[in-house]
Amino acid sequence: MQPFLFSKFIYNNNMKILSIETSCDETAISLLETSGNKKNPIFKILASDLNSQIDIHRKYGGVFPALAKREHIKNLPILLEVVLKKSKIKESKIDLIAVTSGPGLEPALWTGIVFAKELSKRWKIPVIPVNHMEGHIFSVFAKEKGKFQIIKTKFPILSLLVSGGHTELVLIEKLGKYKIIGETLDDASGEAFDKVARMLELPYPGGPEISKLAEKERKSNFKEAPQSDGSRTEQIFQQKNCDSLKIDFLSFKKISLPRPMLHSKNYNFSFSGLKTAVLYLIRDLKENNPNILNDINIKQKIACEFENAVVETLVYKTKKAIEEYKIKTLIVAGGVSANKYLKQELKKLTKNKQELLFPKGKLATDNSIMIGIVGYLKHLEQPNKKINISKIKANGNLRL
Ligand code: KG4
Ligand code: ZN
Repeated sequence: MQPFLFSKFIYNNNMKILSIETSCDETAISLLETSGNKKNPIFKILASDLNSQIDIHRKYGGVFPALAKREHIKNLPILLEVVLKKSKIKESKIDLIAVTSGPGLEPALWTGIVFAKELSKRWKIPVIPVNHMEGHIFSVFAKEKGKFQIIKTKFPILSLLVSGGHTELVLIEKLGKYKIIGETLDDASGEAFDKVARMLELPYPGGPEISKLAEKERKSNFKEAPQSDGSRTEQIFQQKNCDSLKIDFLSFKKISLPRPMLHSKNYNFSFSGLKTAVLYLIRDLKENNPNILNDINIKQKIACEFENAVVETLVYKTKKAIEEYKIKTLIVAGGVSANKYLKQELKKLTKNKQELLFPKGKLATDNSIMIGIVGYLKHLEQPNKKINISKIKANGNLRL
């Protein structure tokens, strides 16, 4: 593994960084140790813990900000204690705090910021605010345990950021310089997954649920099967994919959902029309059979066609941007980057042409390791910068 060249960074060895993430429904704290040299920063995870509020928000079908805030306030001191205990590091050995300051839910962000400020005063150490989306970009270099470094990566880089709150194509021509060349005009891709899952009566978060059903559908390999009354033959065809489906065997209704903005001349996305199309589809199906969603096969087919529509749109725009900007590396990050079908299609797209980087394991979704990485890199960039902690504020709409 080749080290990345951080030529403008000043080497600062052996720091211990406490990183805090509370932008949405995960409370997360990590303690990272940095080493190596300025061209090759190395990170070691001394301890990391995360408390997911998914079960609490599930009954609301999405994240409920006031509840998220309450849970973060409750979880933060507990996680800190766990991390300090696991790492066996004394508070007095910690050099720096990195905290997510946006984008995200402001009441949730504030809890992490207030907690960081209190620790900063108590321990007399600085706080660095971190952009959550920058964290997602750097999450592709991280590991869940042990040591890792930032690998050498060729510019220009394109980053497809797909999460519950964002869908963006970001051009990175040099380190730390981000240009958003396209973004969603309405719902984020993860949000669309969550909302469609709710329509299909699937639990929150919807992305993994829809993905599981869609995968089953793609793998389903039915041949002609007799109807229960033996009078006719159900036409279920050999099917790896699901974009041409006959789901209602009496009316031969075909499921087909739109691919929004596919032919627009820019790199923007829109997922709210697609979501509405699913709403109308389910409404029409329910007119014939109010219990249609009890049929898992129908759910599978809708999930599959929906996932196809989202992935096709994301891949198409990414392909166009790769060509126009002569991209050498594609970084895909954010919760939706855990989607297997998206991964598969982007692998096909970049094969032998661009390097493709994804976060490993659970690092696709929100975590504090990615916040610690960016905090340290920002510190190295301006090691003597004095940050007035009273000026650190939550910004729900913070941009790259
Ligand atoms: O990055 P993230 O953890 O939180 C935000 O910053 O928003 O992303 C969460 C989003 C949710 O909308 C969730 O449904 C989606 O990521 N997600 C997925 C998958 N896993 C998580 N979407 C599609 N397929 C998945 N496998
Ligand atoms: Zn996120």
